[in-house]
Amino acid sequence: MSIENQAPDYIRAIAPYQGGRPIAEIARLYGFTEDSIVKLASNENPLGMSPKARQAMLDASADLGRYPDGNGHDLKLAISRRFDLPMDWITLGNGSNDILELVAHAFLRPGRESLYAAHSFAVYALATQANGGTSVVVPAKANDLGHDLDAMRAAVTSKTAVVWVANPNNPTGSFIEAKSLKAFIDGIPEDVLVVLDEAYTEYLEPSEHYDAFDWVRHHPNLLVSRSFSKAYGLAGLRVGYGVAQPAVTDLLNRVRQPFNVNSLAQAAASAALFDEEFLAESAALNREGLVQLSRGLRDLGLHVLPSRGNFVLVDLSTSASFVAALDAVTGDAGKPLGVRCFEALLAKGVITRPVANYGLPKHLRVSVGLREENAVFLDAMQALARGEK
Ligand SMILES: Cc1ncc(COP(=O)(O)O)c(C=O)c1O
Repeated sequence: MSIENQAPDYIRAIAPYQGGRPIAEIARLYGFTEDSIVKLASNENPLGMSPKARQAMLDASADLGRYPDGNGHDLKLAISRRFDLPMDWITLGNGSNDILELVAHAFLRPGRESLYAAHSFAVYALATQANGGTSVVVPAKANDLGHDLDAMRAAVTSKTAVVWVANPNNPTGSFIEAKSLKAFIDGIPEDVLVVLDEAYTEYLEPSEHYDAFDWVRHHPNLLVSRSFSKAYGLAGLRVGYGVAQPAVTDLLNRVRQPFNVNSLAQAAASAALFDEEFLAESAALNREGLVQLSRGLRDLGLHVLPSRGNFVLVDLSTSASFVAALDAVTGDAGKPLGVRCFEALLAKGVITRPVANYGLPKHLRVSVGLREENAVFLDAMQALARGEK
């Protein structure tokens, strides 16, 4: 038997995660200079990282000959102070992606089910499959493509081990208000772990905020994950965390790598947590960018889903004239509409994200950038709408 056949079927069947295309790669392929490319593909913070986080990271770089603190004491202390949480409720991750994988590793195995909504974050499916679990995908609501919580509750069986909810969700941008979300969590059996993925929570308006950490106090089966990659601007450092009661936290810590979060990330995240000014600036820029992108796309006759994240999802099929113009530019009706638009934009130096792998072949996801970057994207879309290559 060949060596690759020694891996379990469910591992060999994994379709690798498709991330946003890096600027350097597109520059190389299309002959652009790197600084002429606009990347609106990975829901990053267009402001970069907070100056305080940068300084903390530079200070920590003096000691890189040593291993990081494997228990992440200082960062856990910072999170615990910032949100008034016990330190033994916190698990640190190499990005919140790591937390999601630790959950799957600890709770899923062949014969156990993992439940999530259609068009929700791709890693739920990947992490499930990597551990031999069975994915149960619940159709989304027709209006905003958001989670249908009633249908998700009804899909829970005695085999369900983990239920994943992203709020706001990526790539749809849909948001579940606190009351319905809390009622949903209250209705899940105690022996099923609920993962509430709050990677974009810092972008919510004050009126939408809720405190899921407080819910953890009453739910030993709830884990809330948070990311430093979005509003905190630390995507390249890879750091996130999970908050759950000690029993779940202890399990996650058993399966994580001893040094899963590096020293620079720990130092930068500890400082970023308290840089309120930077967070507020990031949220304000995002608010304006969402309006700018949504207006610009609607002016082209395209339907933009309401988004509570740092990106918008646009349905390209909603304007017949745009589709006809794109057909004229790309001349290849074989590929999904979203992929063709993505490729036509690449040729203009703008990187966006096709979402056909999320079951959305006619949509395109566009991250909020700086005002000028959003304008470059909208100009490129207008040129496409005029049928210009
Ligand atoms: C909903 C959601 N959860 C988690 C993540 C993972 O982010 P990170 O690993 O950078 O914290 C992402 C990244 O795009 C996301 O969209």
